[in-house]
Amino acid sequence: QDGYICVQILRLRFTLEQTDPKSKARAGKLVTDHGTIETPIFMPVGTVASVKGVHQRELRDEVDPDIILGNTYHLYLRPGMDILEKAGGLHKFMGWDRNILTDSGGYQVYSLSANRKIKEEGVKFKSHIDGSLHFFTPENVMEIQRTIGADIIMAFDECTPYPCDYGYAKRSMQMTHRWLDRCLAHLEKLPFKYGYSQTFFPIVQGSTYKDLRIQSAEYIASVGAEGNAIGGLSVGEPAEEMYKMAEAVCDILPEDKPRYLMGVGTPINILENIALGVDMFDCVMPTRNARNGMLFTAEGTINIKNKKWEDDFSPIDEMGITFVDTEYSKAYLRHLFAANEYLGKQIATIHNLGFYRWLVKTAREHILTGDFAEWKQTMVTKMNKRL
Ligand code: GUN
Repeated sequence: QDGYICVQILRLRFTLEQTDPKSKARAGKLVTDHGTIETPIFMPVGTVASVKGVHQRELRDEVDPDIILGNTYHLYLRPGMDILEKAGGLHKFMGWDRNILTDSGGYQVYSLSANRKIKEEGVKFKSHIDGSLHFFTPENVMEIQRTIGADIIMAFDECTPYPCDYGYAKRSMQMTHRWLDRCLAHLEKLPFKYGYSQTFFPIVQGSTYKDLRIQSAEYIASVGAEGNAIGGLSVGEPAEEMYKMAEAVCDILPEDKPRYLMGVGTPINILENIALGVDMFDCVMPTRNARNGMLFTAEGTINIKNKKWEDDFSPIDEMGITFVDTEYSKAYLRHLFAANEYLGKQIATIHNLGFYRWLVKTAREHILTGDFAEWKQTMVTKMNKRL
């Protein structure tokens, strides 16, 4: 339309900088048209074009993430594709000029359970907003993600529940692989819309069955994508099962491409999976739990609603990296929660996102200096406590 043809040459570039000598932890750098992402990285979740309760300015200046996440399912329903296209894509719409990744809707549709029907062709589902009927296919989900315009877009997959019987897990994984072929075939026909490139990540499935995970990882690796994701975990299985699956998959996925573990997790889950070779994470936990008064710190978790904080005038987190950590006291934050003030949720959210940012940044520093494994062990013991 403006005589501008965008060719798929500017692709994501990943450099593996360092691997920890005593674990499989890696430090790397990913470069896209919206900047550099230092890994390991945690991506704050901004489902509907907003990281709940946090201004983009605060997010950028205080939490400072290189990348955030949006959701195809929610953005497709509201504000809808017309508005996002008119805005010139999600970055412009929300005023965020760093990286964005969109999840494909595979997980959100799975969460709808009673309100969806999965078939080979795609998934029919009912909107959680107005009950209207919609149909997602691998093809239209690629079109939708082109229109949203994130830097990294995800394959349309089926996230299996836990527990899941072997037969279902196998059939579902095979369908996810066929859907992947359809995503790739369709993407070839879809030019970038806004003058910058997008990178596509396929997703490994296979529930908690090691043989299926291995098959899936081999298939996903064979398509030669710029980065790869692991799905279907953190859906209720014991942490040990998650680690076993992540390890089996990381051992197969190419070393020179970033690995993204979807929907994980607690600070401890994140460190354990970094040790297994995962580079990217996202989870609603720091934001959602903040709104319920749960604070993550390097010394353990705090329920700020507890009476014990009523007259504790010490800073929220002396070691915290954001302004809220030292500007406000625990007693004040507890009061805001008791009075159900918006500001309480906002402060807790900024604190938790700042903590997750600190955690992955510090993990990266320890990988680069070569003592990640020891540091991780100390942190896991400390963070297990409830204060
Ligand atoms: N988020 C968390 N788990 C998953 C998954 O298995 N698939 C997708 N698409 N998103 C996820």
